[in-house]
Amino acid sequence: MTRHTDNKLRDAAFAALERSHAPYSGFPVGAALRAGNGVVFQGCNVENASYGLGICAERVAVFSAVMTGAGAFDCIAIATEAEEPSPPCGACLQVLAEFAAMDLKVYSYCRNGAHASWSLGSLLPHPFTANLLTTTNG
Ligand code: THU
Repeated sequence: MTRHTDNKLRDAAFAALERSHAPYSGFPVGAALRAGNGVVFQGCNVENASYGLGICAERVAVFSAVMTGAGAFDCIAIATEAEEPSPPCGACLQVLAEFAAMDLKVYSYCRNGAHASWSLGSLLPHPFTANLLTTTNG
């Protein structure tokens, strides 16, 4: 957990990628999530020989941030070695939607220089939200 200026978020994501444990997929991912106070939380994917136990980089970053009480996230950067920029998977989008506003900026960077950006709302226009739970709990 370190402080970064905006233009260092990508570097933080690539630094996180270096810590990836992805021997089974060969697809290392790094993520860097910036909170409202400017603190950046990094995550990498962590796989397991029992394949289903692996976790994505984005969720590691979110859970690390939430554990400290951080919030008001404004941006997440993702780093991969893919040929094309990779958005977060659907599970990670849903987890992001729990803790971030739909205008969260999602940046994705490749080693080859390719990059893309989206809003969270454009990637997950219809998240499952807590208010839906109240209608069936009676
Ligand atoms: N992965 C992530 O870390 N983030 C994503 O949003 C997509 C996929 C990881 C999971 C797995 O370790 C590897 O990439 C291949 O799916």
